[in-house]
Amino acid sequence: MKPPTKYLEVGAHAYAEQVRGVETVECIEGRTSVREFRADPVDDETVREALRMANLAPSAGNLQARDFIVVRNAHTKKALAQAAYGQDFIRTAPVVIVCCANLERIGHYGARGRSLYCLQDVAAAIQNMSLYLHGNGLGSVWVGAFDEEKAREAVGVPSHARPVALVSFGYPAEKGVHRRRLSLDSIVHWEKW
Ligand SMILES: Cc1cc2nc3c(=O)[nH]c(=O)nc-3n(C[C@H](O)[C@H](O)[C@H](O)COP(=O)(O)O)c2cc1C
Repeated sequence: MKPPTKYLEVGAHAYAEQVRGVETVECIEGRTSVREFRADPVDDETVREALRMANLAPSAGNLQARDFIVVRNAHTKKALAQAAYGQDFIRTAPVVIVCCANLERIGHYGARGRSLYCLQDVAAAIQNMSLYLHGNGLGSVWVGAFDEEKAREAVGVPSHARPVALVSFGYPAEKGVHRRRLSLDSIVHWEKW
């Protein structure tokens, strides 16, 4: 495709960057949580690619204090759904990824690392993964409401890690709802709160 004239003076590279930028915005705007999934399986390559995107997210000191457990097993998904107070879409989703903070790997940063940075490392990874999945026709939902000890037990998370979130995903069987956001005016403070 030929770049529109307005990009000609900045060259093909800048055009490619611009196009990619548009795709990013579309992906961010288009994503919604999805909680109903088709039974179609998700292949390993797609799961690996989603995890590769997760792995590219920023992390404190690039310590990458996050680990992921990929769950497809029906019994394990059932146990995770029970740990999550019966949120049944965790059982019916083809894939669930248990996203964990690694308290050992973030050790260099002491208490702040363990209580804050590693959680942010995981969150950034989840968002990358969610956007990648959406961009590739899959739907996902980020689940934070679960009994940590039960989830730990279900997938054998060691004591130096903490299950922080579950991400259930698959091919969507529902059209996601675009939920309202607060206005920028009500959340953005310029220069000072
Ligand atoms: C930290 C966190 C915890 C969440 N926990 C749950 C959950 O336990 N169950 C659920 O159905 N959705 C959960 N969600 C998804 C939110 O409900 C959802 O992102 C929010 O309503 C906005 O909708 P959207 O994702 O469609 O834009 C969670 C999201 C985040 C970021």
